[in-house]
Amino acid sequence: MSNNQLKAGAGSSQFVPVSPFDLIVFGAAGDLSLRKLIPALFHRWCDDQIPATSKIIGVSRSEMSHEAFRQLAIESFRKFNPDAGINDADWAAFSRHLFYVTLDAVSDGADWSDLKEVLEGGDKKQRVFYLALAPSLYGAVSANIERAGLKNDGARIVLEKPIGKNLVSAREINESVGAVFDEETIYRIDHYLGKETVQNLIVLRFMNSLFEPVWNANSIDHVEITVAESIGVGGRADYYNTAGALRDMVQNHLLQLLCLVAMEPPLDLASDTLRDEKIKVLRALRPISKENVRSSTVRGQYGKGASNNEAAASYADELGEKSDTETFVALKANIDNWRWKGVPFYMRTGKRMASRYSEIIIQFKDVAHALVKDGPLPPTRMVIRLQPDEGVKMLLVTKDPGPGGMRLRYVPLNLSYKEHFEARYPDAYERLLMAVVRGDLGLFMRRDEVEAAWRWVDGILDAWRADATPVNIYAAGTDGPAQSAMMLDRDGREWFDGA
Ligand code: BG6
Repeated sequence: MSNNQLKAGAGSSQFVPVSPFDLIVFGAAGDLSLRKLIPALFHRWCDDQIPATSKIIGVSRSEMSHEAFRQLAIESFRKFNPDAGINDADWAAFSRHLFYVTLDAVSDGADWSDLKEVLEGGDKKQRVFYLALAPSLYGAVSANIERAGLKNDGARIVLEKPIGKNLVSAREINESVGAVFDEETIYRIDHYLGKETVQNLIVLRFMNSLFEPVWNANSIDHVEITVAESIGVGGRADYYNTAGALRDMVQNHLLQLLCLVAMEPPLDLASDTLRDEKIKVLRALRPISKENVRSSTVRGQYGKGASNNEAAASYADELGEKSDTETFVALKANIDNWRWKGVPFYMRTGKRMASRYSEIIIQFKDVAHALVKDGPLPPTRMVIRLQPDEGVKMLLVTKDPGPGGMRLRYVPLNLSYKEHFEARYPDAYERLLMAVVRGDLGLFMRRDEVEAAWRWVDGILDAWRADATPVNIYAAGTDGPAQSAMMLDRDGREWFDGA
């Protein structure tokens, strides 16, 4: 691509229509479907990416007509996206493609004829089954899809995270789905992979010549990955209490980010090339054991506090009982390979933290010789802001202009998405749904990747159990428990808190 081509393409999003499809959403009356999937499809409909012969078929056990489902979909859309201006004519056109079938897809003796009828004549279209259900049901539903004769040629299945609660249960789920669907037709969602800024990690690292020579232990002191949320667990307490932050966020989202930051340059952008490189990182993660679990991990749980200037309840109060589940976790990970020898990757994520943001910090080593006498110079840092205020900053030491001698300032070289790009930032699910229809597996997790991530996470869960690692209470609306800062302090470092 020439410079001119790059310039010509700037600022103009392109929506290439996908081929006609039938998307069957199991769990259609649930939160994910109403909050994320239907709105995502509507946006892509408005962008003319969805061919008019496509059908979106909601399936769940609730009794509902097509029309009642359409009504539920638009009401939920408005509730969850109060700022989205919905054009009534667009919605009316889109909703004609929404259908609904009442079906208990898990039970053995259920009658699938209504669903078959809606799918009638759609054999030539790309068929996609989306399981927005509890993972323990994936196997049974897959088997029933096959039994009902609905798995046509090339049919694909989409699985939401979490795939299991540990390695053993993940394998069971993968086996049972794999008994019906081939691996190349299974799309395991990690919605972080659909985020614009996460996709940009590959472009930033491998399509600029500047970074690769310094992207290693020779130049980098350490890496920080923070995914902070200000919300509590709200209505999801029942699920969350069986999961905790390590399973809910680290096993998938944070480890995927770590892979993209740490992986070797891929040969190309083919799905399996990328996934092959990511899994090497997961396999190189040094296990955390009972012996070092207290120095390498911190568990936290939010107590009472404040969020958005309002009093916020503690996790235990939201749950209605005391619990040992962590709503915050901080980890120090090491990647045992040549590139990253001696470079710690600090990760943290939590609910009810001070604000919502996701950020990756690459902290470079100190300059070899400081030239100035008054104290050490701040290190060069690269701040990759994933959300919100998307962008990339290089924090550099700069001469403060004007008289007064060699006065130094630490200032950002700032690439702000908002200032540079006019495009709307699509929700990750828009891209992911279209990627399934196109057959782009690179944005999804392969079986061995999920299992490698669980293997490392299982080690931590075992170590926590063996050590009885306590949860440290932190006030809602803060950066997590003090032990998180202490973990870095022991290494002579601190979490970067913005500049
Ligand atoms: C989900 C987790 O996978 O990601 C949630 O289950 C979490 O607990 C969510 O809130 C965060 O996603 P995002 O896109 O808001 O950063």
